[in-house]
Amino acid sequence: MCGIFAYLNYLTPKSRLEVLDLLVTGLKRLEYRGYDSTGVAIDSPDSKNIVMVKRTGKVKVLEDAIQEHFTGGEYSEPVATHIGIAHTRWATHGEPCERNSHPQRSDEGNGFVVVHNGIITNYNDVKTFLRKRGYEFESETDTEVFAKLVHHLWKTHPTYSFRELVEQAILQLEGAFAVAVKSKHFPGECVAARRSSPLLVGIKTKTRLATDHIPILYGKDDKKQTSDQVLPRSDSTSEFMPLEEKEVEYFFASDASAVIEHTNRVIYLEDDDVAAVRDGTLSIHRLKKSLDDPHAREITTLKMEIQQIMKGNYDYFMQKEIFEQPDSVVNTMRGRVRFDGNAIVLGGIKDYIPEIKRCRRLMLIGCGTSYHSAVATRQLLEELTELPVMVELASDFLDRNTPIFRDDVCFFISQSGETADTLMALRYCKQRGALIVGITNTVGSSICRESHCGVHINAGPEIGVASTKAYTSQFISLVMFALVMSEDRLSLQQRRLEILQALSNLADQIRKVLKLDSKVQELAKDLYQHKSLLIMGRGYNFATCLEGALKVKELTYMHSEGIMAGELKHGPLALVDDSMPVLMIVLRDPVYVKCMNALQQVTSRKGCPVIICEEGDEETKAFSSRSLEIPRTVDCLQGILTVIPMQLLSYHIAVLRGCDVDCPRNLAKSVTVE
Ligand code: F6R
Repeated sequence: MCGIFAYLNYLTPKSRLEVLDLLVTGLKRLEYRGYDSTGVAIDSPDSKNIVMVKRTGKVKVLEDAIQEHFTGGEYSEPVATHIGIAHTRWATHGEPCERNSHPQRSDEGNGFVVVHNGIITNYNDVKTFLRKRGYEFESETDTEVFAKLVHHLWKTHPTYSFRELVEQAILQLEGAFAVAVKSKHFPGECVAARRSSPLLVGIKTKTRLATDHIPILYGKDDKKQTSDQVLPRSDSTSEFMPLEEKEVEYFFASDASAVIEHTNRVIYLEDDDVAAVRDGTLSIHRLKKSLDDPHAREITTLKMEIQQIMKGNYDYFMQKEIFEQPDSVVNTMRGRVRFDGNAIVLGGIKDYIPEIKRCRRLMLIGCGTSYHSAVATRQLLEELTELPVMVELASDFLDRNTPIFRDDVCFFISQSGETADTLMALRYCKQRGALIVGITNTVGSSICRESHCGVHINAGPEIGVASTKAYTSQFISLVMFALVMSEDRLSLQQRRLEILQALSNLADQIRKVLKLDSKVQELAKDLYQHKSLLIMGRGYNFATCLEGALKVKELTYMHSEGIMAGELKHGPLALVDDSMPVLMIVLRDPVYVKCMNALQQVTSRKGCPVIICEEGDEETKAFSSRSLEIPRTVDCLQGILTVIPMQLLSYHIAVLRGCDVDCPRNLAKSVTVE
């Protein structure tokens, strides 16, 4: 949902061409967040102006334009200090075109230029205000008001520092945003801020940093900061100094994947933080002082490795992530499941388990694929916790003003940890006193930080826009939670053992399912020219039908529907004839007989479904000429093995239809707008 990236080198000479290269690489890492258009802004060779290049389309188009535009030797001369900002856009206000691309500017002279992720909801009011003061707008974006408002404040408050101008602008704006601002009036400075959209600062120094924290500052001018402007706390704050390094490079980025190749030292900014760099010094300020604010921001060390965000030998990130699942599921369980002692410890929630056991009900809330992981595990949670379990789409949950009670436990499931609908639902439940449990894949994300407790799914960075390995890891995290909740229930021990045993075999079984790849590819060749694909199943495999259909829709632009097999005769059966592609999941579990009924209803209408069944199940296979056989596992984990052929199928159909697998049209990975 838009990626922002800024780079600052202080006394570490780099040519403008090197800076541009860095900006473009940063954008490539963030491209999954939006790929409608891109842009960069750097200093002109005489350092008196700002030069911008913007293009419609993906980062590659911008890269080519930059190579064409910046050919002169003047751009290859090293400069000691420089600031560049860059953006990749997922359009919300205004069609994707150069005019609406970021950076957006304050005036024709590029006095202030800004890159922005999020939505400024009161932009029309601000626009009216600025129009009355003579400003003319050149784009349809909400972002342009930001640049022009800062410009207006600069004209009316000539004594304000750059950081104060940005702060004053933010105070007038409503909505969710992360911004990075550059100005020709404040050379060598950059100001960035966030409110409900993610933003981090990466720090690269030659020598080891002397501190692990930097203080949060309040007050007017950063030149005049004194120790009493640091939020007082009982323990001394003197150990935390503003970051003043001799030779330093700073990065502002929407997420860690854009900085990891440069540094693993980052500060995750919080809502209403304003980070300013001046003369190589980084300072962090807050708009409002509140007593429960911490007095410093921690510089954390990322655990991510650069290889994790590279494609390696795969053609697409999605393909790589599908094939990573034997490892990612193990990583989700690592250090948590002891197969020998049948014990499970979820460190992030263990202290809350007694409270959770006393709750009125469990609510599982998420969007898209994350929501499907809740659907997939609901039955097991009901069985092992013996509590009512509600699964909710975050957007619908909010639309209904769903009643929430203090003794509810609300799970927020999100790969990115930044999805606006899920985050809003979290805040809604938190305000009503419920216990908030986050299930996320992104350390430091908003959902992660705003939860009372939670589970990191540890699937590793997921870059393909279509979620795959995060789904199976979310699934396993919720299964582990169910196992923890039933630890002391004697009557459930046999069931728990059966599930633990199955979990220990899962990685090998996933490897086996992945061997179906070429068979699935052949199937894709039969299906890719069709308009529609129906996917049917029930019980533990209904979630696979929903998830499979979502994957097919988003990647191949084909219509696809996940159908609860029990509902077939209540309507969807009318769609079935000899030309409608149908895929059915029929496994030997308690709903087998019912699935067979559905299968017969389909075949007797001349339907010829592809069947996903268990290895060696000749009786079921006999109902179709085409089948995919998966290993047998415990019923509640089947969904992990059945979803993988669906991931592979959507991938292969997308390739055959010539779709961009990692960047499906109109979508973005992290949906930070409601
Ligand atoms: C589909 C997909 C989306 C996300 C949804 C929620 O492949 O990836 O449906 O699952 O946008 O995103 P997170 O999990 O980041 O909250």
